[in-house]
Amino acid sequence: LDDPAALPQEIAAQAAADIARLTGVESHDIAVTLGSGWGKAADLLGETVATIPATEVAGFTAAAVVGHSGTLRSILTPSGKRVLVIGARTHYYEQHGVRRVVHSVRTAAATGARTMVLTNGAGGIKETWKPGTPVLISDHINLTADSPLEGANFVDLTDLYSSRLRDIARSIDPSLDEGVYCQFRGPHYETPAEVQMAKIIGGHIVGMSTALEAIAAREAGMEVLGMSLITNLAAGIQTTPLSHEEVIAAGREAEPVISSLLAQIIEAL
Ligand code: 6GU
Repeated sequence: LDDPAALPQEIAAQAAADIARLTGVESHDIAVTLGSGWGKAADLLGETVATIPATEVAGFTAAAVVGHSGTLRSILTPSGKRVLVIGARTHYYEQHGVRRVVHSVRTAAATGARTMVLTNGAGGIKETWKPGTPVLISDHINLTADSPLEGANFVDLTDLYSSRLRDIARSIDPSLDEGVYCQFRGPHYETPAEVQMAKIIGGHIVGMSTALEAIAAREAGMEVLGMSLITNLAAGIQTTPLSHEEVIAAGREAEPVISSLLAQIIEAL
């Protein structure tokens, strides 16, 4: 992936072949990336057919962040859906390049998945969102100043976060709120002034993932569902300092409830 002459989609095809060989599962229908707080969903989705370390798969780098398992799992749901669970996310702030950030999404597409479910732990700008609240992503603002697309590739991003899939999610939990996700490059949290900017330009959620991945998913022709777990309110909205430990702790606490919700939503897709 570091070779500019290599086609990222060809490396994704190699990765998909590695997954088929290592899991014994030829193709998947749905892929889901589990962000902080969402990890238990895999156990509730169905029968785990195989779990493999991401490092055995072409193009994947070792997990760097606490709260990410570093594995890929093939699950068979009760209704017979093949779900690829991605517990290995490369964040933009790791500075391995945007190709690495979206490699798991391109790999998911290469395994045959037509639906990409992207989850994350994020900061909330709406004061009514208590830590532990799951929200649907309705749209995003990409503040990384980067794109996973290479060349003159003018992909349309209307309805990127599929309103059809959001409706299905709300059929499981009608109380689910939604908001616009702002991807900052991180790894520092935003200043209160940056959070105010995000609010003024139409953002409701601040985080460090997902938007670039969603763009790559759309390029690959997948339908995208995005969900954030609000682990804390953003800087200046909450008056106490933010800490990664707080984010992890909020995720752990909310995990049983939101993981069960996510498993039900995926089974309904
Ligand atoms: Cl407040 N900001 C960002 N960028 N990511 C977060 C967060 C805040 N809280 C959890 N993840």
